Amino acid sequence: MREIRRPAVLALAVLLTGCSKTQTEKLIVTKQPFGKTPEGAPVDLYTMTNSKGVRVSITNYGGIIVSLFTPDRNGQAGDIVLGFERLEDYLKGHPYFGAIVGRYGNRIAKGRFTLDGVTYKLAQNNGENHLHGGLKGFDKKLWQAGDWTDAEGQHLQLSYTSPDGEEGYPGTLNVRVTYTLNEQNQFRIDYAATTDKATVVNLTNHSYFNLAGEGDILGHLLRLNADRFTPVDAGLIPTGELRPVKGTPFDFTAPTAIGARIEQNDEQLRFGRGYDHNFVLRGGGGALAEAAEIYEPKTGRVLKVLTSEPGVQFYTGNFLDGTLTGKGGRVYVRRSGLCLETQHFPDSPNQPAFPSTVLRPGETYRSTTVWEFSAR
Ligand code: GLA
Repeated sequence: MREIRRPAVLALAVLLTGCSKTQTEKLIVTKQPFGKTPEGAPVDLYTMTNSKGVRVSITNYGGIIVSLFTPDRNGQAGDIVLGFERLEDYLKGHPYFGAIVGRYGNRIAKGRFTLDGVTYKLAQNNGENHLHGGLKGFDKKLWQAGDWTDAEGQHLQLSYTSPDGEEGYPGTLNVRVTYTLNEQNQFRIDYAATTDKATVVNLTNHSYFNLAGEGDILGHLLRLNADRFTPVDAGLIPTGELRPVKGTPFDFTAPTAIGARIEQNDEQLRFGRGYDHNFVLRGGGGALAEAAEIYEPKTGRVLKVLTSEPGVQFYTGNFLDGTLTGKGGRVYVRRSGLCLETQHFPDSPNQPAFPSTVLRPGETYRSTTVWEFSAR
């Protein structure tokens, strides 16, 4: 697709429609300063707005989706993700709100894995396990950013080179994450990565959704396109089993309120303190396919998730505890947001029966997730 640069878009729009600059500017990516990293590097906030009432703001610090406005059934826009107004609040620490997670999203048991006969040691930053890329994962990196607009929509491309040995992982990894907003109310995330040595990769986005924009998420209805899930041990490491959801509180094959069974006396729910589990998607990944749909009855907002990944971590914000105050002074209490982290299964580097997360030189890692917004 040929790229159209900003001045060209403006000139063309003014020529064709006589629109003022302010009107046309809404349809391209805008950029504003968002503060500085502790090292003094400037950070930006990029905003994409479509003509259907969807607006998303993303910072190149951690690739974090800071806000995401979508219309409710009356056309009223509301912010459906958790996060902060200021960069300082993100720098103080938070549970991955809206961020790109990598090099390996989710857990690797005991912070180690063996690849081609070599054992690699990673940070044990979640009990004895490794979580979400380690002490300074992709969620805490400053990404190079570039934006453009073409017939497909508005794009923001973030790039980061993770050096060989960073956080213990082998290989220099070149990562590219492209966010696209289109006029069909779809927000698309395309991930690509290459390496110069065999390594493991599992990239995701850790947005916490609350389609009502307030309260908890227990009344949201969820449908998951999954007949099985990966049960875990007390440290949330998969046992290796792919367990049928039928007859368990993990059956979301028909739309079900998230809170309906969350307090049941179930060992898996106890381990997760709620839902914090990987679901095995029908179809097994590869092609882009529907993974999940959330419906919020009060506002009518719907979020449909499509992905090329074989799994999705459904997490109900069980570790949120009211100590963080976010946008608009909202206190983030337990279960005030839910995550649908499209991914390969947790601990795949140590689970030979799971789909492989190994990336070798000459190959390109690719992953796509689409969030589709509507209301009914
Ligand atoms: C993931 C994990 C959870 C928790 C959150 C961040 O979703 O599976 O256990 O660590 O990230 O708080």
